[in-house]
Amino acid sequence: MNCYPLPPLLRLPAASFLLLFFLHSVRTQIVTGADGIYSASFPYFDINDDGTDLRLLDADINGRVIQLTPNSRNVPQNFMINKSGRAFLNRPFTLWQLNSSSTSNDTAKRIASFNTTFKIQVLHGNDTIPGEGLSFLLSSHLESAPPGSYGGFLGLTNDTLNGNPDNHFVAIEFDTVRQAYLGDPDDNHVGLDINGVISRNTSSLNFSIASTTAVNHTVWIDYDGAARYLRVYMVVGDDPKPNYTVLETAIDLSIYLEQTFYFGFAASTGITYQVNRLLAWNLTVATFPEGKKRMSAWKIGAIAGGVFVAVVLALGAGLWAWLLARRKMERDASANSSSALLLETLKSLPGTPREFEFKDLYKATNSFDEKLKLGKGGFGEVYRGVLPGENKQVAVKRFSRGATSAPHDFLKELIIINRLRHRHLVPLVGWCHTNNVLLLVYEYMPNGSLDHHLFEGPSGKPTTTLSWERRYNVIAGVASALHYLHNEYEQTVVHRDLKASNIMLDANFNARLGDFGLARALETDKTSYAEQEMPGVPGTMGYVAPECFHTGKATRESDVFGFGAVVLEVVCGRRPRSDIDGFHFLCDWVWKLYREGRILEAVDPRLEEDYDPEDARRLLLLALACSHPIPSERPKMELSVQIISRAMAPPVVPHFKPAFMWPAAPAVVESSSRSTTMSVGTSSREASSMESTLRPFDRV
Ligand SMILES: *[C@@H]1O[C@H](CO)[C@@H](O)[C@H](O)[C@H]1NC(C)=O
Ligand SMILES: *[C@@H]1O[C@H](CO)[C@@H](O)[C@H](O)[C@H]1NC(C)=O
Ligand SMILES: *[C@@H]1O[C@H](CO)[C@@H](O)[C@H](O)[C@H]1NC(C)=O
Ligand SMILES: *[C@@H]1O[C@H](CO)[C@@H](O)[C@H](O)[C@H]1NC(C)=O
Ligand SMILES: *[C@@H]1O[C@H](CO)[C@@H](O)[C@H](O)[C@H]1NC(C)=O
Ligand SMILES: *[C@@H]1O[C@H](CO)[C@@H](O)[C@H](O)[C@H]1NC(C)=O
Ligand SMILES: *[C@@H]1O[C@H](CO)[C@@H](O)[C@H](O)[C@H]1NC(C)=O
Ligand SMILES: *[C@@H]1O[C@H](CO)[C@@H](O)[C@H](O)[C@H]1NC(C)=O
Ligand SMILES: *[C@@H]1O[C@H](CO)[C@@H](O)[C@H](O)[C@H]1NC(C)=O
Ligand SMILES: *[C@@H]1O[C@H](CO)[C@@H](O)[C@H](O)[C@H]1NC(C)=O
Ligand SMILES: *[C@@H]1O[C@H](CO)[C@@H](O)[C@H](O)[C@H]1NC(C)=O
Repeated sequence: MNCYPLPPLLRLPAASFLLLFFLHSVRTQIVTGADGIYSASFPYFDINDDGTDLRLLDADINGRVIQLTPNSRNVPQNFMINKSGRAFLNRPFTLWQLNSSSTSNDTAKRIASFNTTFKIQVLHGNDTIPGEGLSFLLSSHLESAPPGSYGGFLGLTNDTLNGNPDNHFVAIEFDTVRQAYLGDPDDNHVGLDINGVISRNTSSLNFSIASTTAVNHTVWIDYDGAARYLRVYMVVGDDPKPNYTVLETAIDLSIYLEQTFYFGFAASTGITYQVNRLLAWNLTVATFPEGKKRMSAWKIGAIAGGVFVAVVLALGAGLWAWLLARRKMERDASANSSSALLLETLKSLPGTPREFEFKDLYKATNSFDEKLKLGKGGFGEVYRGVLPGENKQVAVKRFSRGATSAPHDFLKELIIINRLRHRHLVPLVGWCHTNNVLLLVYEYMPNGSLDHHLFEGPSGKPTTTLSWERRYNVIAGVASALHYLHNEYEQTVVHRDLKASNIMLDANFNARLGDFGLARALETDKTSYAEQEMPGVPGTMGYVAPECFHTGKATRESDVFGFGAVVLEVVCGRRPRSDIDGFHFLCDWVWKLYREGRILEAVDPRLEEDYDPEDARRLLLLALACSHPIPSERPKMELSVQIISRAMAPPVVPHFKPAFMWPAAPAVVESSSRSTTMSVGTSSREASSMESTLRPFDRV
């Protein structure tokens, strides 16, 4: 990879990776005390932070640093120009509370206070000028930068939205380009931006934000909610907090932000570009402790509330018992009533997904126009659409079977899917379930599915060969998503249907897994793998682990098998079920080449010499290890992630493919496709709580 060099300490020897992997689990200290103090500390960032503690939107974690905009020296014209990206703390905060005992407007609102410290690094080439800037962002919407927010819009807003009070953001910008028409004083200043990039207050700096060598800057931003006053301090390097500010001003944030808001960062590049890096971040927020004086009034309220809750609970229990009894009597009808309950649950979930009206989706897809069809899968058809009145492109999946027979199971699954958030999963926007028709609405992935880039798509042959770098990146993305599903979410989720046509590519060719969890929800006949082989649909043969034909159950191990098949497919550019050289499966052919010491001959010939032989060998060996017929012998996703990140050596693979044995050892196959046992997740959380008893939490 050809990138701007990382700060020296961030280049770590591979041997220390394991130790750091462990440290990661106790690194981020996030605490919300009863005293209303919330505190988070990121001394560095880890790829696993995304989707858990953080939410990255068109940004990346690379080398333990958040790259808010891409970092690449390969044809910067293609990769670094006109970009914007954001990173948020994945958690909302309450900005104000009304003081009910106050009559004067001035004291009516109690506003939260916060202190934050972060370290940034802005790099540009020796022969180019920097552009455009980075900012600390308070926003009521946890959203990607709007389209057209590159250049002078700093990933904050765009030409249409600039200055609109509905934007609900306040930002501190660190701007490296003078956009005269946006009122910038010079090309090296800090500014306070409210709902737009025309700064309300600006201040020039007497040191340079951007540099050609890895210079760090430390910034402190303190907001005193009671005084409604903001102070910004900034120094070069790791110097201590100075006694002068670079910008300070009175500001009542509650005028501009909604009551709920998020903390984050945004950055952009324009026709001139720079690397926008966030190296570390501490944040302390003081929200609203219960005042002692108000306690007695609250106590009365609490007792009254307690009684009320008890009554409601009793009524609820009665209702529940009644429901149960009714359910016993009318077993068939009960599915409907519990579905209704689930529907209610789903509707009351915070944030996405939302329920759509059928007529809107009908309109969005131009009445399911054949011309807008993106593809056809085992469960139904996918159409491109534009949501009416929103100008937002989406992919609408219409289910052809399964859902109608088990809406209850489906809704249960949807509740889980809704809560899965990871940068390598296709985000679910919403759903619609009327008259036994089920529709799911996903974010539209402009680059379609992976198989169309490897093999001929609906529009004929792939126009270009997917480059080696992109292939490696796709595999790394899939591994990270599977690792999340298997180990990092509170429950283990098994994808069950991993294949190239279920891997989507976003605008930057990052892999996004689709259809996760759905297979389970929709599969009515658990032994129906073969049935999914439908005419005209690329088959699942070669992706399904051998033991599944016996157990009919998907497990983490069977997902790993599917992952191995995908890796082979991406490296070799052939489908898993391919007749080559007398073999019927790609895997068997690669195993033979490996035995004969010519494994690199398996690499997609269309790449010619344009690949890294060591990395190709690493991936092929990993794929063979994942294709092991005995489930317990396959590497866990955690190990695969480490091998792909080059922190671990590739696995040792036997020269002959071992024989498949059934039944395998009973411990190997989980009794249920989704179990509540967690390997990595639990242990790291335990470690984290242990650690927290041993030393005080980090605070700013
Ligand atoms: C910048 O910060 C990083 C991470 O905090 C540190 O490892 C590095 O040494 C710093 N670089 C300089 C030049 O101070
Ligand atoms: C970047 O944006 C500017 C201004 O909108 C435009 O003139 C230029 O062509 C764009 N460049 C690229 C490579 O997209
Ligand atoms: C609430 O309002 C009362 C009356 O104006 C004032 O005395 C009190 O300090 C306020 N409380 C807070 C926490 O702001
Ligand atoms: C005080 O608040 C009330 C109701 O919110 C509003 O009608 C009134 O105009 C406010 N007074 C001032 C001086 O802002
Ligand atoms: C922020 O820092 C100031 C001064 O160091 C301190 O008085 C205040 O309590 C801090 N606020 C929070 C929310 O930590
Ligand atoms: C964050 O807090 C920790 C612990 O107090 C401190 O060691 C670290 O330097 C702080 N980081 C920044 C960027 O201020
Ligand atoms: C710029 O040149 C200096 C000195 O030759 C070098 O250390 C630095 O890495 C270069 N910066 C970039 C971004 O290429
Ligand atoms: C700005 O963003 C809005 C909302 O996403 C979009 O409708 C509009 O077209 C964008 N404007 C430009 C100039 O890209
Ligand atoms: C910030 O801008 C506001 C509005 O233009 C102005 O009233 C205020 O004096 C400025 N504050 C500073 C510290 O420059
Ligand atoms: C920058 O300005 C501050 C005061 O605003 C001063 O204390 C500091 O020494 C100056 N730094 C340089 C490098 O001139
Ligand atoms: C700020 O700190 C410097 C030393 O770092 C000191 O010389 C100066 O008097 C201080 N200024 C104020 C206003 O406290």
